[in-house]
Amino acid sequence: MPAIVLLGAQWGDEGKGKATDVLGSAVDYVVKYNGGNNAGHTVVIGAEKYALHLLPSGILTPGVVPVIGNGVVIDLGVLFQELDGLDARGVDTSRLLVSGSAHLIASYHTVIDKVAERFLGGARLGTTGRGIGPTYADKISRVGVRVQDLFDEKILRQKVEGALEQKNHLLVKVYNRRAITVDEVVEEFLGHVERLRPMVTDTALVLSRALDEGRTVLLEGGQATQLDVDHGTYPFVTSSNPTAGGACTGSGIPPTRIDRVVAVVKAYTTRVGAGPFPTELLDSEGERLRSDGAEFGTTTGRPRRCGWYDAPVARYAARINGVTDFVLTKLDVLTGRERIPVCVAYDVEGQRFDEMPMTQTDFHHARPVYEELAGWGEDITGARSLDDLPKNAQGYVRALAEMSGAPISAIGVGPGRDQTIELRSLLG
Ligand code: GDP
Ligand code: IMO
Ligand code: MG
Repeated sequence: MPAIVLLGAQWGDEGKGKATDVLGSAVDYVVKYNGGNNAGHTVVIGAEKYALHLLPSGILTPGVVPVIGNGVVIDLGVLFQELDGLDARGVDTSRLLVSGSAHLIASYHTVIDKVAERFLGGARLGTTGRGIGPTYADKISRVGVRVQDLFDEKILRQKVEGALEQKNHLLVKVYNRRAITVDEVVEEFLGHVERLRPMVTDTALVLSRALDEGRTVLLEGGQATQLDVDHGTYPFVTSSNPTAGGACTGSGIPPTRIDRVVAVVKAYTTRVGAGPFPTELLDSEGERLRSDGAEFGTTTGRPRRCGWYDAPVARYAARINGVTDFVLTKLDVLTGRERIPVCVAYDVEGQRFDEMPMTQTDFHHARPVYEELAGWGEDITGARSLDDLPKNAQGYVRALAEMSGAPISAIGVGPGRDQTIELRSLLG
């Protein structure tokens, strides 16, 4: 013990990578439990900036064992490209462990992801095009290929044959694309086997033993609560479970061993891709948040949609995940505003909703009910304690904590590792 889950409270890009990195030196294992290279985490260490996609952010901390859990979908080409990139910059990546039960993204998944989006036209989700949805679909349909299948060529070939039998019909007859051959997929997979082999292990067993020995395990979520396939704004979601329950299924660590659930929440809101977003600002205020917060995707470079803080969304995250602590990020981005609106409830065709409405139709029609909080003008990027913050910034933090359903234990005032105000230890 202890096991700590760290996840996103909104629509992703809350600063989970930085938060994981800040905790890095105090933990022994960092486990990615869901998603794949649809994630994009920017971590700034001194003058160095790292963009991580498939690897857990803990890989940047010397001594930490990074783990890719069974709930992750892996593009092997991306995995080795990312490892090579870090090796070239002197990061020791040799401790990485990979679950034998994680599913593999094949070229047909990526092709289908992209072409399906094109066919959806105006109804597209705006996926990252990394093959995430089709790979999870195969997992649930029981025609997926897993890491362990790579070690038995006969089985691997059979599985790829089975998958392609369906996929080629879809590719050729529906999407007008060329058929993909079993040989090309198997060859590509086998090209990675020898390099992968030493990393592959029963990660659930390793983590269970680590917890028995008193080690600290951090479970790092990709994406976020509102992108969860069960609890998010379906169908505008990813295809995995970024919420706290997903941390258990995606790692093999049981709920009874989780001690803390830390949710990272931005001091305002952003979203990439399509779907409802009540507090979205389509005016110059939205532009200002985007430019002040450098809100452009780490993975696809797309401009992020921006809006004010949404307290019902934060409360929803607190409830669904059993949040014990919030890490409030990017408070510095709000500097320079006289007043800051915060959404405290919704108006859906004349009816007030204090919590997120049950149906997507209502959420699509939800109009934010705002409360205006006083802003501040002073630069806060050098603040290292609550007392260093201007009174109104302290008031903003206090108001958010009161309306969001769990205490705020840390505040981000800049992208740097040290630009963090710790109010309460997230460990122990
Ligand atoms: P993640 O996907 O949740 O890890 O978040 P991203 O890395 O995609 O996006 C968060 C961005 O905000 C990154 O560029 C971080 O370097 C940056 N960031 C994180 N925390 C803070 C903060 O407190 N203040 C500012 N200004 N930037 C931050
Ligand atoms: P991190 O971990 C923000 C969004 C995509 C799209 C939807 C489905 O950096 O917070 P997918 O490719 O997963 O099938 O796309 O989910 N999305 C993210 N948005 N941050 C992410 O990850 C995301 N990962 C997926 O934009 O709307
Ligand atoms: Mg991101």
